[in-house]
Parts: sequence; C-alpha cells; structure tokens
Amino acid sequence: AAEGAVLLKNENNFLPLKNEENVAVFGRCQFDYYRSGTGSGGAVNVEYTTDFINSLISRNRVNVNQVLYNTYKEWLVDNPFNKGDGSWASEPWSQVEMFLSDEIVSNAAKISDKAIIIIGRTAGEDKDNFNEAGSYLLTNEELDMIDKVCAQFNEVGVIINVSNIIDMSWENDKINMLIYAWHGGMEGGNAIVDVVLGDVTPSGKLPDTIAYNIDDYPSTKNHGGSTQNIYEEDIYVGYRYFETFAQDKVKYPFGYGLSYTTFDIDDFSLGSESFIPKSGTSNLALSGVEISLKVTNTGNTYSGKEVVQIYLEAPMGKLGRPKRELIAFAKTKLLKPGQSETLSISIPVENMATFDDSGITGYKSAYVLEKGAYKFYTKTTTFSGSINIDNTIVVEQLEEALAPSASFKRIKPKVGDNGNIDIDFEDVPTQTINLANRINSRMPKEIVLTGDKGYKLNDVKKNKISMEKFIAQLSKEDLEIIVRGEGMSHPNVTPGTASAFGGVSTNLRNFGIPLMCSSDGPSGIRMESGLCATLMPIGTLLAATWDTALIEQLYEMEGQELSGNCIELLLGPGINIHRNPLNGRNFEYYSEDPLLTGKIAAAVVRGIRKGGAEATLKHFACNSQETFRHEINAVISERALREIYLKGFEIAIKEGGAHSVMTAYNPINGHWTASNYDLTTTILRKEWKFDGIVMTDWWARMNDVIDGGKATRQDLANMVKAQNDVYMVVGNYGAEINDNEDNIAQYLANGKLSLAELQRCAMNICKFALNTQALRRGELLFGKPHFFKACSTIEGAKSLVDNSIHITTEKTHSFYFDQSGEYQVNVSYFSNAKGIGQTTCNVFLNDALMTTIQIGNTHGKTPTKKLADIQLEKGFYTLRLDFVSSELEIKKITFININ
Ligand code: BGC
Repeated sequence: AAEGAVLLKNENNFLPLKNEENVAVFGRCQFDYYRSGTGSGGAVNVEYTTDFINSLISRNRVNVNQVLYNTYKEWLVDNPFNKGDGSWASEPWSQVEMFLSDEIVSNAAKISDKAIIIIGRTAGEDKDNFNEAGSYLLTNEELDMIDKVCAQFNEVGVIINVSNIIDMSWENDKINMLIYAWHGGMEGGNAIVDVVLGDVTPSGKLPDTIAYNIDDYPSTKNHGGSTQNIYEEDIYVGYRYFETFAQDKVKYPFGYGLSYTTFDIDDFSLGSESFIPKSGTSNLALSGVEISLKVTNTGNTYSGKEVVQIYLEAPMGKLGRPKRELIAFAKTKLLKPGQSETLSISIPVENMATFDDSGITGYKSAYVLEKGAYKFYTKTTTFSGSINIDNTIVVEQLEEALAPSASFKRIKPKVGDNGNIDIDFEDVPTQTINLANRINSRMPKEIVLTGDKGYKLNDVKKNKISMEKFIAQLSKEDLEIIVRGEGMSHPNVTPGTASAFGGVSTNLRNFGIPLMCSSDGPSGIRMESGLCATLMPIGTLLAATWDTALIEQLYEMEGQELSGNCIELLLGPGINIHRNPLNGRNFEYYSEDPLLTGKIAAAVVRGIRKGGAEATLKHFACNSQETFRHEINAVISERALREIYLKGFEIAIKEGGAHSVMTAYNPINGHWTASNYDLTTTILRKEWKFDGIVMTDWWARMNDVIDGGKATRQDLANMVKAQNDVYMVVGNYGAEINDNEDNIAQYLANGKLSLAELQRCAMNICKFALNTQALRRGELLFGKPHFFKACSTIEGAKSLVDNSIHITTEKTHSFYFDQSGEYQVNVSYFSNAKGIGQTTCNVFLNDALMTTIQIGNTHGKTPTKKLADIQLEKGFYTLRLDFVSSELEIKKITFININ
C-alpha cells in the first residue's frame, strides 16, 4: 500500500516527518480512515484494520497533538461513521467533518509546528461520483478546515485518502505537501505512516491525469445519461487527449509523482538493429525496439525507486495519433544515494501500432504503422531518440468487429499551418460486415450424443479420452443446466461466496464435473458469511505502484488465500479504463491508460495462478459509468474499443494467460455484452486465442445476438450463441428447475439455438474445470448435510407448527424439535433492493452458521427456495437471523424431512 502513494508536492521537505516533530492532525478520516470502496469490490471482512492517527501514535516517533486528538475522539462519539441505512449503495461518499473553531486551530498551532489534514472519500458499485460537494468536490466544512489550518500553521500537508482522483482546485500556496494515499486496504493506515515517517520513500506515479476542472475531461459531457454514452473523444482518453489538445488544462499529469530523492535518466540508447521495417503486409520482419538507459539516484539522503516511462510520438499520418502514448515502463530496484541501475526495455512493435477502422491507410481492420518519424520520450517532455518508417506497415491484419451500425462524430486532430493541433471531428466508420452470415458460417459442429459411456472428466485430464468424447455423453438437459451458475452464498461451496458453477446438478457431478466456486473480488475474498480475509489495496493504488513484480507477488499470496479457502476463481481484477473521474467503480479499476492497465492485470493473473487459483477479468467491456449500468449503451468506434477499452483485457490474456472473463452489464453499440458475438467469440477467442470461460455479471441481461433489441435476464439462448458460457446467477438449486425461466429449451426446440452451441459452452466450462482444485478434490466441499447439535433446554422455546418458523420482526426464534433426521431447509423471502443490489442475511442455528441467504430484488414476489440440507437431532434450538443488509425480509423458514 505504501508503494502506491503518489507524492504531488513536498515543499521545504515537509515529508518525511523528523523524529520529535510536533504534529497536529486534522480531519475525521484520521480515525475513519478509508480502506476500500463500497459494493462487491471492497466487501471483505477483516480481522483488523488500521487508521492513520493510531498507526502514527503507535510508532512513537513524532509528538502528536494530544488535545486535538482528544477533541476529535470525543466528537466522534456523537458523530459516528455514517454507513447509510444499511441498504445496497447507501453509504455516502463522504462523512460529516467536525467544525473547527478558530480557537481549536490556534491552540493546536501553539504546540504543533506542522499540520496534517486528511481528506477522505469513498465510492463504489451502483452509484457514480458526482461533481458535487461531498463527492468529487470538497464540502464547505472541508474547505473551511483547510482555510483555518492554513491561516494558523506555517507548514501544512494534506493526505488524500480517496478511491479515485478528486477535484484539486482547493490547493493553495500555503499547502506544502500533498499526497494521494488512495485506499490501502486493511494495512492502509500503517502504510501511509511508513511513507510519512520516511521508512518508505514514495515511488508511486499518477495512473490518471488530474485536470483543473471536471469539464476539462472530454468524456464528462456524455457521462451519466440513462440510455447512451457517446465515446466522442474516441482514442483521446486521459493524457492522450490532454497532451494532444489541451496541455494547459492539466494540473498534475499522468505518470507524475515525486520522491524524497531525485533521479537522472541518461545513457539512452535505441537498438535499431532489431527494427527492420518492411512496407506492406508481407514479410513482416520487425519485432520491436530495444531501449537501454541508466537511472541514477542523484540525492544524498534517501534511497528510492524510479519509474521509467517510455512514450511514443507517432506521426499524425492519415489516421491521426495522440501526441503521446505510453508504450513501455519499468521500475528500478531501491537505489541508494548515488547508485545507478541500467534498464533494458523491449518494446514490441504492437505497442507502437494503431488500428485503422476506416481503411484510410489502405489497410482496413489492421494495426498499422504509418510512414514518418517515431519519436521516443522517457518522460512526457524529454526527447530521447527516433526511428523512421518509409511506408505504411501492417503489423496485424484483423477483421472488422463491433463497429457501430449508425455513424456519429468523433474527435480527430487537425494540424494547422503553424503546427498547432486543433480538435476536428470525423464520421465514425460503421459496420460493413453481415453479422448473421458471420455467426451462421462459423457454427460449431454438433457432437453426436452418445449417452453415458461411463467416462468421467478426470479421464480427459488423464488424456484417456478427448473432451469431445466426454461432452458427447451429456444429454440436452445436462447441457441446458451446465450453463447456469447458482448463487449467491451457495450452501455447497465456501460459505458466503458469489457463485457455484459447473457441476450444478447431481447428474453433472456424476460425470465428474466439479462444483466450482467464485468469489468477489477484486480487493480480497468477499465472504458474506462473516469469514475474514485479507483486504488489499484498491486497484487504482496498485496501478499507481507501476510495479508489476510487486503486484504479482501480492496476488500470489491472494491466490494462496483463495486456494486455502477452496475458491477456484477470484472475480477480479476489474480492468475497465478510467475514462472519466466520475465512474463510481474507478477504484476497482486501474488507470486511464490501457498499457498500464493490461500490465498490472497480467501480473495479477499470473500471481493468482501461481498461488493456486484463477483470476477473472471484468467487466468486459466499457463499464464507464454506474448510472443506469444495465441499460447504458456505449456508442463507440471500433478503433477506440481495440486501442483503449479492450486493450487491457488483450494484454492480460496474451501476457497473463487469463482463463476467465466476466462480461459487463451494459450494451456496446446496441449489443449487450453478455450476448455479444464479436466481443466474446470473434475478438476474445478467435483473435486473442482465449481458451477459458466467459461468465455474465450477476443477473445480467442479454439481447438478440444478431438483431439486438430489448434485453432480458431470460435470454440465455443468445448468451450461449455469443459463447458467453455461464449465466451468473440463477437461485441456489435453481439450475435444474430453471427457476429463472430462461429460453434455452424454447430456442433449442425452435431451432434458433443449436445443441452444438451449447456443447461449445459446456466444453469451455469443462476445460476450465480440468485445472481446478475442485476437480482434484473430487467431491463436494459441503456435500454431506451439516449436523447441528441440539441444546437440552431453552427457555420459552415453542413447538413448531408445520415444521415452520413464521417470521415478522423478531431476529431470534427458539423452538423444540421432536424428531431427529435429515431436513431440507426452505426459505420464503422478499427483497426490494435497489437495482440488483445484493442483500444478505446469515442464518445461525445454536450459534453455528447454517447458511447465508444472499439475493437480489424479488420484483414484488415472495419466492420460496431451498436453502440447504442439514441434519438435526431431537431437542432445543435457537435460530438467529443476522442481517448484513437491511432490504431483505425473511418471511418463513421450513424444515422438510427428507429421510
Ligand atoms: C458486480 C460484479 C460482482 C458480482 C458478484 C455484481 O453486482 O458488478 O463485479 O463480481 O456482482 O458480486
């Protein structure tokens, strides 16, 4: 967490604090220090957490202003942290700040020399940031705090404990120090204290551009609508836009970050022999460029690490290119004062190419290098070398995919006579291929059904039979069932996790297909059952480290934790592009840049695999806003998709070897991503050679794979046609009975869906299962009904009528059970959760967890569902309901004897 802190300002060596310095700390978040964003991405139960002030005091190195500490502590008793009303996405993005009288501040200034102010913000799933006080902007109370502290103290520093960049217009000359600490997970408080005290020299760099004003981001004007979001800025996202068109709008540039020491980069050399340009499509003999350079710590006091960033300035050509594109980066080891490190950086030619979606270069649907000078920079401003290309080179010929059906205007640079670049617009090229023909001509071949031949999935693993031979045994019904994942909090997998998938029926399990488990993600294992796990730093902080080796190491430990908890898949990393600072889920995601995003994601994927589990790249793709996240149509060019929004996924798959992808909620150019053939078949599998599983997001919607149109949660047939393998999620025990009432059987019957398409998804799922611990384990994790011991007596216990407990408001119910045996527990419940909010209640029997009920909105109905199979003995029990969220009502719990 300390490695991701980004120091923006450090005048008069404000940091690191020196021993015995007198420091006053302002702002409630010194205690209520944010550790992660909200929603599924940060909901990890932790054994402990750290805050700033207590971590600082515990080091006993500086003199913390005790009076001020006590003032805050007392005020917090009456002003506790506001978590909202307990419903989904109800936590506010900021907390009320304590009013500071002039007296409090001037008294603090009498005994303390330095003031540190903590500004905190959170954000999360299902609710965007807003350009309002308390979200992107500071509140009046926060501004007042900054004013008063700056008026009384000569030395002021601000620690920004946020999930996402915030407006920085409040910064003034009296503030000597600014540092983005982000949310550092459970160790966040300790980590930023490491930095503040100088035990760690900051080496983080901004993964996003901080502009002066939210309206300076070209995507702002299209953000937040309810039906469509037009990606008018095209590939000019973040610094690509600012460097090309609006350098004067940048307050802190992408890649910026100070250290306690200083560095020089010299001895730059460009290996030209590796680069043999040949024009046209044939005999492509270039692989890339080799850059070597030396980084020296030129300071006298502090050791530190530097991030070398290589940017390209490509010729404008016919397509138009951003003035700067990050094409490689590397981080040094910890360099002592005076120490140097020589870095060799290989840059594959793909990183320098651009995608022609119109054919203007003569090579439509290809990655090309247009003729001209390609200049390299080590920072956005330092020119470091160049190469020349005489004729346009095709780097990779692909086929058109995902182009919009109707045109719209996108930004294109126009170079004026004076060399200035202005914003111009051009029409976005539209779809020219026939999607129906593409899908129909690439239909998989049906494998003739053989019925049960006695083969188990392990026989494929042992190379005794082919996967085709194995799949041939599955009946039409088995194939329908296998594409339905169940959840959340499935009783047969690790308690409180997001889904169980694969062997969701006894029949499938009899073929040896294991019941596998996935859990959120991405910042640690989310177990709504109350089990604890490690809460890691948020994605944005991870990206700010620019340290792929470190991230790989961290996620190797995460992989071990997953595997130790019998979880196959982490539902992360989230790797959507930070297109606009107002996206509520930016905290889970990495950066405005696709290369940084992809490299960090690849490290996460490799790490988790080394640790014994697998990662899931999500949300594929274009989840750029949370407002209307199920409906908002990303209207976008193929070029912007390929170069910006899909690129991180491509890198994580090609370099990280990811085996699992989760599609997003939104449509892209009218096709919902969960049933988007070109997205999940043409590009993902055919072009990128992805051979893992694709799942939908939870309770996602799909529409017609060819015609688009209205989307529903029942359209699994079109999901399968697109080769999105698993629907997440139907109810627990709902796959066999088709409780979601999906349309697979209907489409099979009318011929709109072929058995072969279902078999293709089944093969993807089974192939994925081959390398899981669930397969190695060979049996259900919680296969045997859990046994609950009775008490000999409980005062006030009642006998059950119809073996049922009718629940109104009481949270505990004591009862007498007169017959021991195995029971199926059913529950009737109701939830009016906003959107598809996940509501949770843990059910305990005599203080042992029986099961977790975790569901979305029940749409006005009160369904009855099977919860679990358990064993009870004759005697007394207390059933206790422990509600994690407030929007769930449990109506009735019934015990049905099954033996
Ligand atoms: C989120 C996903 C998450 C899933 C399961 C959805 O609401 O969008 O990112 O993995 O729930 O919790």
